Amino acid sequence: MNATPHDLFPDSGAEVAATMPPIDTTAMATETTLLNPRFYTTDFDEMDKIDVTPVRAEWDKLIAQMKSDPNKGHFKKTEAWDKVDWEGMDPALRREFIDFLVSSCTAEFSGCVLYKEMKRRGTNPDICELFSYMSRDEARHAGFINDALREAGVAVNLGFLTKAKKYTYFRPKFIYYATYLSEKIGYARYITIFRHLEAHPEQRFHPIFKWFREWCNDEFSHGEAFALLMKTDPKLTESFTNKLWIKFFLTAVYSTMWVRDHARPEFHKALGVNIGWYDQEVFRKTSTIARQIFPIELDIDHPRWIPNLQRMNRAFIAMDAAHRQGGIAGKLNGWIAGAKAALTFASLYTIPAKHHALPASVRLEPSY
Ligand SMILES: [Fe+2]
Ligand SMILES: [Fe+2]
Repeated sequence: MNATPHDLFPDSGAEVAATMPPIDTTAMATETTLLNPRFYTTDFDEMDKIDVTPVRAEWDKLIAQMKSDPNKGHFKKTEAWDKVDWEGMDPALRREFIDFLVSSCTAEFSGCVLYKEMKRRGTNPDICELFSYMSRDEARHAGFINDALREAGVAVNLGFLTKAKKYTYFRPKFIYYATYLSEKIGYARYITIFRHLEAHPEQRFHPIFKWFREWCNDEFSHGEAFALLMKTDPKLTESFTNKLWIKFFLTAVYSTMWVRDHARPEFHKALGVNIGWYDQEVFRKTSTIARQIFPIELDIDHPRWIPNLQRMNRAFIAMDAAHRQGGIAGKLNGWIAGAKAALTFASLYTIPAKHHALPASVRLEPSY
């Protein structure tokens, strides 16, 4: 547990398949764009002051469950790990799949780095214990994905990443909203793919998807922990301003996921998944779960929702094209596309939210 990320994730071996073009996955993971998973830092002293007394009974139960470490032996390759034909894979699919794995690995590792840092800097035994279990899980998750990348000869250098990646500062309450959401959305994404492939095993083109069910239960528990942390201070979710922030994070996280997933058409085609269906399904599951702690919910069936997500996607494609174009014309086109994205975000943000009263007990069990 005290190993540095570099010890946990040594540099990749060189098993590059001869016919595969070299891909610098570490550079992909290090890049900071609006869409890439970020690394976060926060005011750790403020987080260390959280008093979990108001949720003690539920807290102790959750911590005991995490301590028992139900997935201790799960993240190891077994005979269920079929041989992957990386060289025979369609090049467009291979590119998108590697992009998916790198982005997932970066997101998992981002959690590992943030949680480990909180555990390292904290003095509050409740907080330190929670964050040590969560960083343990995220280290396993990132390491397991990186093993899959290593087979393709393109593992991410995670030790380098911790030093080279830019860190985004979020004050603690924004960390709660963003991290809670990313844990729950992570659960919803993994379980939706798992259930789909359970029904259509012929479309499981890589063995890693077989590991998603137990995996997503870790993410579910992490989300539960953040729900309890938010529950210690009702202002965090119930003040007028904070409701606006929650809506902001929901809109930003959902629309980013939409744009990111739509950039991987071959990957989703290979899985036999319609991207629009998949994203709406993930939003729906996440929104249902989030009723445990967020008193508002986005109206994803509103007539303005999907058309604006599609508009957002077009704006990002135009921004990307402008960036490639370069020069003055590229800059100008970039600004135009950026303004379109901002207006589209405003249009999504102003869709009236659904409101509801919060349940007395915050805890949930995974049920999908
Ligand atoms: Fe994870
Ligand atoms: Fe997690």
